[in-house]
Amino acid sequence: MASPGNTHIGSENRAIPARRFTARFSETTPRHWCGGDPFLTHFLNAYTLLVPGNEGYYIRTLKLRMPRISDPAMRVMVAQFLLQEGQHGAGHHRCWRMLEAQGYQIAGFHKPVDYFLYRILEPITPLPLRIAMVSCVEHVNAYMAHEFLGQRLLRDATPELQALFEWHFAEEIEHKHVVFDVLNSLPGRYALRLTGAVLVLPLFYLLMGAGALRFLHQDRSLWRRNTWSRVRQHLFSRDHMFRRTLKHAFNYLRPGFHPWELDDSALAREAIERHSLPEHPALRPLPHSRAA
Ligand SMILES: [Fe+2]
Ligand SMILES: [Fe+2]
Repeated sequence: MASPGNTHIGSENRAIPARRFTARFSETTPRHWCGGDPFLTHFLNAYTLLVPGNEGYYIRTLKLRMPRISDPAMRVMVAQFLLQEGQHGAGHHRCWRMLEAQGYQIAGFHKPVDYFLYRILEPITPLPLRIAMVSCVEHVNAYMAHEFLGQRLLRDATPELQALFEWHFAEEIEHKHVVFDVLNSLPGRYALRLTGAVLVLPLFYLLMGAGALRFLHQDRSLWRRNTWSRVRQHLFSRDHMFRRTLKHAFNYLRPGFHPWELDDSALAREAIERHSLPEHPALRPLPHSRAA
């Protein structure tokens, strides 16, 4: 179990090295870049629109908490987390040009969403609850990473987009304990964790669903039979994501839960190795990424 002010057993000595994503996106990328699957493509496109704003929110939240963190190991961990997250936002933001070149109108989604989340909701949310909300989104990122990497759901994706998502997901696994451990150092941590989950889980899937539907509508794929059979396969048959998502979400609500009770660090390592091959490197180590 965690003890306030200290990192959790299972969290120590975990490497969180930041890397820069260097692959370029082509304006001729196929519209259904995720193996021809319109649903998975647009679900992940919605994620790409949410990431830059979201990761800015993590960074502002943790920077506000940093002066109150006295445990040196936790300070190093948070500093490394901030470096990784900063790179994710930048990597996904570069992808927006590709989406616009494909003819999608994206500002009508991300501008009102970002305004609501970060101009209206963020200033009225107390810092401990913000930390709990970030911890919950980080859990969602980590279990999506576990499923997408573990089931190789991106195996047929266009190489640069496969690299973008697999790199991001791998790093979500590498740092999945950081904000959870910060939350665990706060008084009232379990009540905060539950409140954060009740707020974040419906909001996350509402926004992801709305974003995906908007892309499908613009793509004229919304009412195609193929789209909905892909949704069914992803949720209920081939990938079983409905059942698996519920399991991961309920796990987070258990009082004794810790992210590293599921040790999937090998999935992260394999993905980073795949995208660091000397012949096609998509990642470059960021200097000083291990400094506090
Ligand atoms: Fe991230
Ligand atoms: Fe993260």
